[in-house]
Amino acid sequence: MQPARARVTGAEQVGPYTLLRVARGGLESGIPGQFFMLEAPSRPLPRPMSLCLAPPGELAFLIDPIGPGTRALCALQAGDRLAILGPLGNGYGLDVERPLLVGGGIGVAPLPYLSDALGHPPAILGFRSNWHAEAAHLVPNAEVVVEPTYVTEVLSPGQDVLACGPEPMLAAVSKLEPTAQLAWEAPMACGYGACYGCAVEIHGEIKRLCVEGPVLAAEAVAA
Ligand SMILES: Cc1cc2nc3c(=O)[nH]c(=O)nc-3n(C[C@H](O)[C@H](O)[C@H](O)COP(=O)(O)OP(=O)(O)OC[C@H]3O[C@@H](n4cnc5c(N)ncnc54)[C@H](O)[C@@H]3O)c2cc1C
Ligand code: FES
Repeated sequence: MQPARARVTGAEQVGPYTLLRVARGGLESGIPGQFFMLEAPSRPLPRPMSLCLAPPGELAFLIDPIGPGTRALCALQAGDRLAILGPLGNGYGLDVERPLLVGGGIGVAPLPYLSDALGHPPAILGFRSNWHAEAAHLVPNAEVVVEPTYVTEVLSPGQDVLACGPEPMLAAVSKLEPTAQLAWEAPMACGYGACYGCAVEIHGEIKRLCVEGPVLAAEAVAA
């Protein structure tokens, strides 16, 4: 699989995160929850990023600069070029009757595109500070909680939960809502099944999260 070369059209600060916009060219935007491998110039490996928004002619990614790869992506400016491959993996199932989007921290990233696809259903977003919570404005119809309040404290049962966030949040959500769809993370080197870098054991079987996921049904991973 060959990545495409894409031009950066803009980069905006959203709290501690960067919303990186690239020209779409011939790339499909895919299903919400799918991801793209983005590689900044001079970096040895691409990094997986969920599609955040798909305005006409663009793809946009919300990036948390936590290490060298993400910092290099956040440093890109309009006119720079990057390598991009995708859409990859399995996204959220959109055939849901009572959708409720649940996001924690940078797990908010795939929710704006998902919200657009589902007609702006209610969302619950949790952040560690008001600064991080600035990203909530990307998701219409969202209730925002800031630590020490957790999203699970305001989640009422009986809804079709579509979630993305840190592992402890996903585990807590799946206990409350066993039918939830959860977007998981693992370090990824290729993004399309070739390297086994993202392999996780589920019920004694090795699964590549980039191929089987990143979105999995909570009951599929429950112990
Ligand atoms: C399918 C998928 C979608 C993602 N979407 C987004 C997104 O939209 N926005 C965003 O900011 N990030 C997203 N991530 C996470 C992002 O890819 C990682 O933060 C990034 O690869 C880290 O690279 P780095 O070089 O900056 O830091 P590194 O130096 O590689 O890592 C910094 C620290 O984070 C840990 N780490 C790195 N990658 C992961 C991971 N995937 N899971 C758990 N721990 C990790 C490392 O062990 C290390 O402690 C996604 C990950 C996956 C698998
Ligand atoms: S990232 Fe290479 S197999 Fe999943």
